[in-house]
Amino acid sequence: MKQRINLLMKEQPAGQKVQVDGWVRTRRDTGSFSFLELNDGSCLGNLQLIADKELENYESEIKNLTTGCSISVEGELRESPAKGQKVELHCTKVQVVGWSEPETYPLQKKRHSFEFLRDMSHLRPRTNALGAVSRVRSRLSFGIHRFFNERGFHQVHTPIITTSDCEGAGEMFQVMTVEESAGNVKPEDAFFGKTAGLTVSGQLQAEVYALALGNVYTFGPTFRAENSHTSRHLAEFWMIEPEMAFCDLECNMQLAEDMLKFVLADILENCGEDMVLFDKFIEKGIIAKLKGVIEKDFAHITYTEAVENLLAAKQKFEFPVEWGIDLQSEHERYLSEELYKCPLIVTDYPASIKPFYMRVNEDGKTVAAMDILVPGIGEIVGGSQREERYDILKERMVAAGIEIDEYEWYLDLRKYGTVPHSGFGLGFERLVQFATGMANIREVIPFPRTPGSAPC
Ligand code: 4AD
Repeated sequence: MKQRINLLMKEQPAGQKVQVDGWVRTRRDTGSFSFLELNDGSCLGNLQLIADKELENYESEIKNLTTGCSISVEGELRESPAKGQKVELHCTKVQVVGWSEPETYPLQKKRHSFEFLRDMSHLRPRTNALGAVSRVRSRLSFGIHRFFNERGFHQVHTPIITTSDCEGAGEMFQVMTVEESAGNVKPEDAFFGKTAGLTVSGQLQAEVYALALGNVYTFGPTFRAENSHTSRHLAEFWMIEPEMAFCDLECNMQLAEDMLKFVLADILENCGEDMVLFDKFIEKGIIAKLKGVIEKDFAHITYTEAVENLLAAKQKFEFPVEWGIDLQSEHERYLSEELYKCPLIVTDYPASIKPFYMRVNEDGKTVAAMDILVPGIGEIVGGSQREERYDILKERMVAAGIEIDEYEWYLDLRKYGTVPHSGFGLGFERLVQFATGMANIREVIPFPRTPGSAPC
C-alpha cells in the first residue's frame, strides 16, 4: 500500500512493507549499499532509505541518483540504529520516475537566501523552509474554515470581478477583454456594459448575504494596484472577511480575537515539526510568542489614546504624529511591539481617514472602526461596524464622491429591514507571516504578485 512519510513517521510501524514516492534529497554510498534521504513533501522530515547493491538497478540507476530525482520505492520498515529517526526503509525495489539534471538543478544542500529562491517559484516549495510555510498556510486556511463552520457561519463566494470599489481608494485593476484593451472602447460598450475591475474586498457583497443569512464569511483573493514595495504588501493577497448581522463593534472585536487564537492554537497542535523549524531558524521564540498571544486578552485602546501614546513616545518617527493622521507602519509597530508588547485593538478612528461604509460615532468625528495590530507586522485585521442608517450613509457616500446610482443596491439594504451589522478583513498572508515569523510577505504566498513582478 502507498504511504505518505508524515503518517509513517507518526505511526512508525517497524516490520511493515510499504511503498513510498518522493524526491531524493541526498545520496551517500558505502561499499555495499547506498543511503538515500527521501522527502515526499507531506512533512519536513526525510525518510532514510537503504538501497542494497544487490538490487538489480543498483549500478545502472541507483548510484546515479542525485538531488531532485523522483523515485518510487518498495521495502520493509525496520528500526533504525541511527540517531534522530526511529525507522528506515530497506528497499526491495527502487524505480526511477524522473531524473534530475545534476549540473543545472539549482537547489544545493547549503541554505539559499529567500531572495535567491524568489526567482524560482517553481522549485522553492521543495526547500525545508518554504515547504514548511506551505503546510502551515494550508493548515491555517483549514483552521479558518473550521472556526467559522463550528460557529454556524455560512461561506459566501463573493465576486472576483466587480463594478464596486469597496475601499473607495481607487486601487482597482481594471478588467477588459484583449480586444477592448487594444481600442478605445466606451464603458457602455465594454464587456460588462460598464467599467469593471478585480475586487479589492468582498465586504459589500458579504453584507448582502449577512442581511439574509445572519453570519457569513468570504475567503478569497483580493487585488490592489497600490505601488507598495514593502515586506507586508502584495498586489494579490487573500482575505478572510466575516460579516455578522445584529452585531456591534464589541462582538466584532471578540470574534476577531477568538478567530486568531483558534487558528494559532490549531497550528501549534498540528504543525509541531514545522513550527520547531521556524522557532530554530526563522524567529527564535516564536512558539512561546504564539502561546502568549493565545493565553492573554488583546489590549484595547482608542485611536485618540494611540495618538497620545505616540506623542508621548521618546522614539522619533519618520512620519510626524497628530490627531487625524493615518497611522503608519512605524506607529503601529511601536504600539504593539514596544509599548503593549501584544496584539492591540485600536478603535474609533477619525471618519476622514476611513471608508464611507463605517458607522459614524455619536461625536460625529470618529467611526466605529477597529484595526488589530500585532508585533512584527503592524495591522493584520481591519474592520468596523457598518453604517446601517440610510440617510447618514447616503450623505457619507455623496461626500466621498461616490456615484450613488451604482450603489443603489447597497443603500437598499438600509431601506428594507436594516440592522446593526459588523465585520472585518484579516489579511491571510499577514497571518501566515505572524504565525511563521517570515520577514517578507513574498515568502508566504506560493506565487507572489508585486509591482514589477508576476512570474508564471
Ligand atoms: O483594512 P482593509 O483594507 O479592509 C478591508 O478591505 C475591509 N473591506 C475589510 C472588511 O471589513 N471586510 O484590509 C484588511 C486587511 C488588512 O488589515 C491587511 O491585513 C490586509 O487586509 N491587507 C493586505 N495584505 C497584503 N497586501 C496588501 N496590499 C494588503 N492590503 C490590506
